[in-house]
Amino acid sequence: MDFKKLTDCFTLSNGVKIPCIGYGTWKTENGQAAKVSVENALRLGYRHIDTAFAYGNEESVGEGIRASGVKREDIFLTTKHWVSFRGFQKTVETFEASLKNLGTDYVDLYLVHWPAVEKVSPDWKELNASTWSAFEKLYRDGKIRAIGVSNFEVPHLEALEERADIMPMVNQIEFHPGYSQLLLAKYCREKGITVEAWSPLGSGAVLSDGTLAAIAEKYGKTVAQLCIRYALEENVLPLPKSLKPERIASNAEVFDFEISDGDMETLESISGLGFSGFLPEDAPADAIAAAE
Ligand code: A2P
Repeated sequence: MDFKKLTDCFTLSNGVKIPCIGYGTWKTENGQAAKVSVENALRLGYRHIDTAFAYGNEESVGEGIRASGVKREDIFLTTKHWVSFRGFQKTVETFEASLKNLGTDYVDLYLVHWPAVEKVSPDWKELNASTWSAFEKLYRDGKIRAIGVSNFEVPHLEALEERADIMPMVNQIEFHPGYSQLLLAKYCREKGITVEAWSPLGSGAVLSDGTLAAIAEKYGKTVAQLCIRYALEENVLPLPKSLKPERIASNAEVFDFEISDGDMETLESISGLGFSGFLPEDAPADAIAAAE
């Protein structure tokens, strides 16, 4: 990989450029927390912000963007469709609601947050296809610069491919040492789908691991920096998050070292560390939506 700075980009299958590290906002509360942390990230040089309708913080993310003084067109903004709004019409409506929340008239990337799955919905293929057809329309209408999915495994991608006119440009999945999903990432790459990593630090759970600490120490880096660099070297776009400005800054200082082949093999082989427990087939998102 030859990224040298935060604004260097992956190129999506439709030619759109996406800055190589994004600032994640999952679990960041709407209000001051989201506004100030997004503003800080942009001031510290990030140009890629990742949110979702379900995070409940789109409004403050939008405020943070405006407060930063960085021009909208210089920012790559992602949000995600929530499972409660599957199907063509509801998808169009919830997308418009997200635009309003964010205070913008387009998004750079819109993702299907979770696939509908067989265990919960016998018509899962149809549900995913009709949601996706709204994505395709909004994309063709110029309201979204790139469209993709999140938490899709190979069977969900295969089923979508059978019915889609346009293949997803991105799949955002859980990815960190201890849960790297390398086979899924490889499948996506072969299909021209850029892979993004949610929880690249295992939501903080991998940061105290002794093996990771020993490897990071060799490079004079923190475990967080090692994890972020690991994603990049696997051709995966990391979306780390922190509320603390000094960590937001240090998480971007990953362009001055290279992980050796041997250490990459060790990182790839770690398993069972920091896994969130969220499997698409268990439909965690549908369970959350049902409990709302
Ligand atoms: P905090 O906001 O207090 O910094 P992930 O991006 O994998 O979801 O992980 C996010 C978690 O990791 C948050 O709890 C965040 O806490 C913590 N975190 C982020 N960056 C660092 C860092 N450089 N060092 C230690 N903890 C970090």
